[in-house]
Amino acid sequence: MWGGRFSGSIDAKMRLFNDSLPIDQRLWNEDISGSVAWAGGLLRAGILSADEHQQLVAGLEQVRAEFAADSFQALPTDEDIHTAVERRLGELIGALAGKLHTGRSRNDQVATDTRLWTLSALDALDAALRELQQALVAQAEAAELAVLPGYTHLQRAQPILLAHALLAHFWPLQRDRERLRDARQRVAVLPLGSGALAGTAFAVDRAALAQELGFASISTNSLDATSDRDFIVEVLAAAALVGVHISRLAEDWIIWSSSEWGFVRLADAFSTGSSLMPQKKNPDSLELARGKSGRLIGNLVSVLTMLKGLPSAYDKDLQEDKEPLFDAVDTLLLTLAVVAGAVRTAEFDHQRMHAALDDAMLATDVADALVRVGVPFREAHHISGRLVRAAEQRGVALRELPPQEFTAAHPALTNPAAIFDVMASTAARDVPGGTAPNAVRDQLILARRLVAG
Ligand code: ARG
Repeated sequence: MWGGRFSGSIDAKMRLFNDSLPIDQRLWNEDISGSVAWAGGLLRAGILSADEHQQLVAGLEQVRAEFAADSFQALPTDEDIHTAVERRLGELIGALAGKLHTGRSRNDQVATDTRLWTLSALDALDAALRELQQALVAQAEAAELAVLPGYTHLQRAQPILLAHALLAHFWPLQRDRERLRDARQRVAVLPLGSGALAGTAFAVDRAALAQELGFASISTNSLDATSDRDFIVEVLAAAALVGVHISRLAEDWIIWSSSEWGFVRLADAFSTGSSLMPQKKNPDSLELARGKSGRLIGNLVSVLTMLKGLPSAYDKDLQEDKEPLFDAVDTLLLTLAVVAGAVRTAEFDHQRMHAALDDAMLATDVADALVRVGVPFREAHHISGRLVRAAEQRGVALRELPPQEFTAAHPALTNPAAIFDVMASTAARDVPGGTAPNAVRDQLILARRLVAG
């Protein structure tokens, strides 16, 4: 491929070090599509005759068929997917194959292939994110008016609707989908025609190439285009954040599934047992999902670090871009599918959730009742806090305090029973985005619309 100026052969370890075929082989389809388009460009630029073009394209399609049938035979001399395809093309159509690389470099070629691959990966990621969102929506619908303790600092705080708690994990995923959609326009920029670094010397119509390959625009600087991996960083950053979001969802559900909480039971299909303790049923699906965030963050850091300080245009360091990209996409697609399955098949125990509510979680509602008769909130907060302490000292629930304790705390507290109503407490929070059944119904309508097919 580049042996002309070399007299010695490559060191065996160096070959192993340099070859990227084991990683970039999966770009075969994109590589061949890019080459078919490039052949068309060379035809229109007058470099290829119609007959030559037709032979090249037929040969490339034959190579594609071999890959598709899994019958492509890689050779030890194949350095990367680009050289492998061209080598095979030569075997199939002879010396004419040598015309394909006219005016092109692997530098603009690999950037084109990787972007093409990333464009379809973005579609797959969007679908996988949506599938998890749909699972959350389905559970939120099934939850109806079930209520559970809401926590801050992992301490019981206020009662909330289960549907509200479930949808709290819907919106981060929605932002992830928006982020990936936004990144897409910067992925869909065609580098082909940039040559090795200075642009191709032949009159190739780059805009036509972009259109044929499904790119939205063409790059404007060949030095930048051949070494721009920002699109990978953006996708990896978005992927790392998806990982963080999934880890938080997983953590909530792992806590809920513990014996102490017992709010949710995972299906057997998404749990595993212990080899030692017969009674165990572990939430491994969610634990692994939580753990995968580590490698997703690592992939981002590894590409950013690789890029830092690189001189302009292509450097071989850039070959290190694909493994983290592929790993992030593979990891996320599997993780999202598993978590969606675990969410869809889980069963909630509404009674356990309700039993976990206690009157102290309505202490804010006591204060709010006082505010409604004109007591400044700070004072109301204090009064309610004293009642909580009194109940704690007597070892009773807040509502079990004698009525005169309430009226002594404030004369307006004549009907505490009306306050200790969980549904009234949630219904009071009837602002857009609040946990009131009305507000959650609106939220659910919006969520459902965003994941409709
Ligand atoms: N395998 C290389 C990569 O993935 C292709 C580009 C090689 N370019 C070069 N000038 N050696 O980056």
